[in-house]
Amino acid sequence: MVKIGLIGCGGIAQGAHIPGYKNIENGEIVAVCDILPEKMEQAEKKLGKQVSKYLDYKEMIEKEKLDMVDICTPNYLHADIAIYALEHGLHAFSEKPDTISVQRVLDMKRAQEESGKHLMVMRNNRYWPSSKELKKMIENGDFGEIYTGRCGWIRRRGIPGKGGWFTTKAQSGGGPLIDLGVHMIDLAIYLMGNPRAVAVSGCTYSKFADNTEKSDSINATFGVAVEDGTFDVEDLAIGFIKFENGASLQIEFSWASNIKRETTFVELRGTKKGVKWSNGSYELYDGSKGSSLKNTVKKLGQYSKYRNIHGANLSHFINVIENVEKPDFTIDQGINMIKILMAIYESAETGKEVIL
Ligand SMILES: NC(=O)c1ccc[n+]([C@@H]2O[C@H](COP(=O)([O-])OP(=O)(O)OC[C@H]3O[C@@H](n4cnc5c(N)ncnc54)[C@H](O)[C@@H]3O)[C@@H](O)[C@H]2O)c1
Repeated sequence: MVKIGLIGCGGIAQGAHIPGYKNIENGEIVAVCDILPEKMEQAEKKLGKQVSKYLDYKEMIEKEKLDMVDICTPNYLHADIAIYALEHGLHAFSEKPDTISVQRVLDMKRAQEESGKHLMVMRNNRYWPSSKELKKMIENGDFGEIYTGRCGWIRRRGIPGKGGWFTTKAQSGGGPLIDLGVHMIDLAIYLMGNPRAVAVSGCTYSKFADNTEKSDSINATFGVAVEDGTFDVEDLAIGFIKFENGASLQIEFSWASNIKRETTFVELRGTKKGVKWSNGSYELYDGSKGSSLKNTVKKLGQYSKYRNIHGANLSHFINVIENVEKPDFTIDQGINMIKILMAIYESAETGKEVIL
């Protein structure tokens, strides 16, 4: 049984990780940590059992006999905690984004290599049954060559924790590009076979910092809003990524936009087939039958066994620790991701394409 210390007991820990663990038989949370005692009490209630509670993750790692930590803190702490855990002989799983700078993700890789332990970052959208089914088809050659794509996550009104850490660049690393981009850019690149990015360009905008309209997004309930807090990140980012194999990807991420309704999507064009994946379902555009173009729509829900895609990702990590599964995420993929995101911010600032 893998012994887990949960660090950060806020929205995602309570809303997705704890429910996910309930259906994982080979891992159990034995200790929780948060700087706010009430968050730990809420987590304990959700767990339905008593666990050790710590205000300081270092003390938890030193005192408890843990196998791994599960990091659900604000973004700027992911690398510090993961590196500390690895250096103390534990496996580390972190929520997305990997971290908020290229230097820190390189530090994470070094710590992982030196420790010989496993390090993985949440990529929950890979765990939709629809994503796994597409991955199989693509690996089977059904799509031919995938040469271009588009992906995005666009909200109408959905700024998470406005004024709090989500909208404070020093703590989040940025706005929807780093918050949502990590989900859909990852799914697109994962399906494309993890090509390395070689050049990016992008623009960012911040037009909704003073908007007071109510959120209409169930996905924006994360973080705690702070009245008159900081808002120094973008609310919309667009960009273009070129890969070493010649493929390209257009991207768009927004917390607030004047559009019809919130949508997540990954659209890929292959020489034999195309696909639009959206909100966990997909539609195939099949050109392989000559003139009789065929569209196939598949609606697949979340993994029922784990209750949610986050639980499925956590289960995979625990199975990797137990040598039952091979890791389907490496920190090199995280380095590729953070380089892309940081270069888009750089391009938005300089107005120039950034070569990676
Ligand atoms: N994968 C997903 O679908 C998804 C969705 C939402 C959030 N997230 C990620 O999860 C992480 C947490 O987001 P959230 O929405 O739960 O935020 P949140 O603000 O609700 O929760 C963060 C928790 O961390 C605690 N914390 C802060 N500093 C700490 C420290 N030094 N030690 C221990 N605990 C500390 C806070 O008190 C809070 O309870 C973020 O990195 C976010 O990007 C992922």
